[in-house]
Amino acid sequence: MPQNPPQSLGKKIKTFFRKREAFRLLRKYHSENLSIEDRTSWAMNFGGSGPFKIKTIQKPSEITALAHAVAELKPKVILEIGTAKGGTLLIWSSIATDRVITCDISDMSVQADLYKSLPPPGSSCKVELLVGDSHSVGFKKRVAETLGDQKVDFLFIDGDHTLQGVTADYNNYREFVRPGGIIAFHDILENQPLEVNQVFHLWKELKKECDTEEFVDDYDQCGYGIGIIRLAS
Ligand SMILES: C[S@@+](CC[C@H](N)C(=O)[O-])C[C@H]1O[C@@H](n2cnc3c(N)ncnc32)[C@H](O)[C@@H]1O
Repeated sequence: MPQNPPQSLGKKIKTFFRKREAFRLLRKYHSENLSIEDRTSWAMNFGGSGPFKIKTIQKPSEITALAHAVAELKPKVILEIGTAKGGTLLIWSSIATDRVITCDISDMSVQADLYKSLPPPGSSCKVELLVGDSHSVGFKKRVAETLGDQKVDFLFIDGDHTLQGVTADYNNYREFVRPGGIIAFHDILENQPLEVNQVFHLWKELKKECDTEEFVDDYDQCGYGIGIIRLAS
């Protein structure tokens, strides 16, 4: 594992105060009696700064509809490809009862304590962070070892958005999802702000052969759109 370079005293102090502020916000979040709507709103506007900023960029109606669909599953285990700033992780860790395994290619060691503390007080959910390239054979093996003989109730694919990348994630991780579980994709709309957002091409194919549902705020919008596959029981 590559080591992080040593931090200057100034940087250490900055990190200390940023982390303290993020935990203050987390205590406030944990102190409230929140609905799913409230939790998705927190995930979009949690606050914090630097590596301790928690955020997800979503259409509120889309992520809230997804969170409701996931909650209806009463999931024990959630697997997420693409942690980024921990926004959707905040939502999943309030819904899963056993564990959320979240994966990203970027190092998360600085935020690890914060992310592992996201489940609400009293929850038995554990957050596990896996860092690496989700497309690699070795990484898939780590996910398999981490899961052991447990199956995933909900798989959220929100990592590499290229056609090749999202297809690799779907092909790699769908086998871990239990019958009756859900697989979701973010950014399924064709009209996207970035050329590399190519999830639409895969989604178009999946719609032909799977039991799917779309959560789309406005079909004329640019970007976003969530698609889910419900696996047969
Ligand atoms: C759109 S963001 C995820 C957003 C997050 N799910 C949320 O809404 O809060 C995509 C993330 O996928 C990660 N990513 C991209 N390619 C990856 C890969 N090959 N393996 C693992 N993570 C990857 C990026 O580093 C980035 O943090």
